[in-house]
This record gives sequence, C-alpha cells and structure tokens, in this order.
Amino acid sequence: MIVLKNVLIPHGEQWVKRDVIIQKGVYGEISESIDERPLKDARIIQGEERYLLPAFIDPHVHVREPGFDYKEDWITCSRAALKGGASSIFDMPNNKIPVVNYPGVKEKSEIASKKSYVNFGLYAALTDKNIDELKSTGMQGAVCGIKIYLARTTGNITVTSGSALLNVFNQPKPVLVHTGGIEGLKKVLFFYEKASKHFYVVPVLYVCHVSTGEEVALLRKWKKKLPSILAEATPHHLFLNKEEYTGLKGVLPPLSTKKDVEALWEGVKDGTIDLLGTDHAPHTVEEKRGRVPPSGFPGLETAFPLLLNAFKDRRLSLNSLLRMTSGNAGKLFKMGIGDGVVKGGEADCTLVEEGEFCAGEDGYETKCGWSPFHGWNLGFKPVLTVVNGFISYENGKFYRNPVKNLCR
Ligand code: DOR
Ligand code: ZN
Repeated sequence: MIVLKNVLIPHGEQWVKRDVIIQKGVYGEISESIDERPLKDARIIQGEERYLLPAFIDPHVHVREPGFDYKEDWITCSRAALKGGASSIFDMPNNKIPVVNYPGVKEKSEIASKKSYVNFGLYAALTDKNIDELKSTGMQGAVCGIKIYLARTTGNITVTSGSALLNVFNQPKPVLVHTGGIEGLKKVLFFYEKASKHFYVVPVLYVCHVSTGEEVALLRKWKKKLPSILAEATPHHLFLNKEEYTGLKGVLPPLSTKKDVEALWEGVKDGTIDLLGTDHAPHTVEEKRGRVPPSGFPGLETAFPLLLNAFKDRRLSLNSLLRMTSGNAGKLFKMGIGDGVVKGGEADCTLVEEGEFCAGEDGYETKCGWSPFHGWNLGFKPVLTVVNGFISYENGKFYRNPVKNLCR
C-alpha cells in the first residue's frame, strides 16, 4: 500500500489537495486527510503539494528492439518512459524486420515482457498482402492496432493496394496511419468513408503526427462526419518550428512553420487534436550527424513536462492536458486509467514537482542520449511514476515490477 499525503490532484479545472491511498493497483480512499498511523505496511510519501496526475500513455513509440537495438531497446526505452512520467507505451512495427505477422508480434511480445519497465502494447503493419493474417484470431488477440504507412519512413513498408486499404477497416482494431501529408490523409479518408458505407462497424482511424494547418482544417471537417477519427500531435510539432530549430535535423513529417504550429494549437484547443503521441524515434548522434541522417527524434523524457509547461502558460486547459496525455488513449485502448485520479481507477500515475529544470541536466535514459529539446527550461519534472500500483521510478531510481501486455 502507498499513501500519498498532501498531493494536488485534478478536479474539474482545479487542483485540490488530497491524501491518496493506492492499494492492489487501484486508488483506494481519496480524502482531505487520511490517518496513516494504523496503516502498518504502507509506504508513506509526503506529497508536499506536488501534482499527482494520471501517468502519460504514449500511443506512438519506436522502441527499435528487435533489430535496431543499438539505437534503443526495451529496457532503455521503458526507463525513458518512466522518467518522463509515462506508464504505458505502444510500439510501432517498423523494426529492422518489420512486424507484419504473428511470429513477429510474438517475438516482440516475449522480449518486451522480459525487459519492459512499463505496460506495453504492440502494433503490426499492414502490407499489400497480409490483411487475412491481420484479421486472424491469433493476430487480433496479440496486437493493439494496425499501422499503415502511406509514405516513406524508417523501414520500407509502404502500402499501395486499394483492397488492403479498404479491408483493413473491416476488422475491429484501431488503424493508425502515417499519411506522409495532406495527399495521404485525403487518400485514407477516402477509404475510411468508403468502408463506413460498406461495413457494419468500422474501427477507429487514428491519424498520426498531424503537423500542418491544412490537415487540422480537413480533420476538423471530417471528424464532424465520422467521429471515430482521432488525431495525434507530437511534442516536436507542437513546440518546435522549422524557422527556429537548430538541433540535430531530420524528422518525418518535417517540422512545421510557425503558422502551422499555431493552427495545431488551435486544434488542441478545440479538440480536433485528441492526443499526444511522442513518435519517440531514436537514432544515434553519429547517425544524425552523418551525410544522410535518418529521420526521427526521441521524445519520451520531455513530452509530459512540455505539455505541463503549456498548461502553466495557459495554452491548454487542465482537462485538455489530461485528455491529451491519458484520457483519450486510455479510452481508445480500453484501459482503466483514463478517468483521472478517482477511487477505484487503475493507479498508474506520476508525481510531478514544479520548479526550474533544464532538459537533459541529469542525462538521458534513452540509449540515443540526446533530445531536440536539450537545454530547454522545463517548469515540471516527474519525480515518481507508479505502474500498476507499484513504484517503478523514484528520484532517478528505477524498479522493475510486473507489467502488462495491453494487447490482450
Ligand atoms: O521521423 C520519423 N521517424 N518519422 C516516422 O514516422 C518514423 C520514425 C522512425 O521510425 O525513425
Ligand atoms: Zn512514428
């Protein structure tokens, strides 16, 4: 049992000071004052008015192992997640050998189960030929979603078959799409609309890394017609822009103009953008400094603090912050953590300290060892992350506790 004393928890648009019990993986009593003296075996944590929030659920991570584990592996990636206040990560399938079939998913799941410090979910990629396998019972029980690449990315798994693009919407798992820009977005919307007319039920269409005003405007319109569309924005598209960024280069989609960044924030405010996904895509510094740098930025350690900064600067409300970091992803993957810090809810949470911090000041957990936000002033820092009711991270120390495969 854990008792957190005097923590600030979200309540509507306010913070309220409470004592919180975590027991058997869920929040127990939450009240203004809990007498901890009779609670013999409890770990008592003095919250000292730090913020207790639902942990970040990151639906978009490239863990890299197996295959590219010199860039990142399940240990380093999941520790980066914990340090960033995340309790669950969902891993993309563009590994060295792309994950497109059951043996591939099974292999990854075995590695993750042994090594991950956080709960995990896995995606498989759609190819022109594997739709029947993706729909099979084994696959449906093993993945949390299906990823479609309509444009070039790390790993070569672009889908072109119209039949595959239609039939992927004739199965229940969320379909995540890397559009490659507005044309790809129009293409997938075309198939999604067609599927909505053809099939009795269609899955959620999850649009990854929306990055331009044009995409935001199109999605705003389409979401009125088809509300099962979700739109993701990454921290680098929300907080960096191509006019000012001077760090290690290369990310897909490319960084946006300041005008596009403003449009993205408008989308966050009005709910067109539903959630934050880091697109944590580590590549080594050496690779990034090479002649043809691979695309991708790491993001797990900085995403939640950056969004908290934005909340402090009044760029988004407390509700939007929660919706973006855990609420909508929790709903999408049917997890019990999406409703906030409430009695009976699953206790995946993070305790966040307010102060003056600097990105990278205490190094990085990600194996690639760099961040596009290096040196940024951050007003918040996760100091404790709880996964399934266990303290898995506390003040720079990591503890490996049982984790869940969220695909089952
Ligand atoms: O920049 C990117 N890198 N964008 C992606 O969508 C994929 C990612 C990667 O896997 O490196
Ligand atoms: Zn990605």
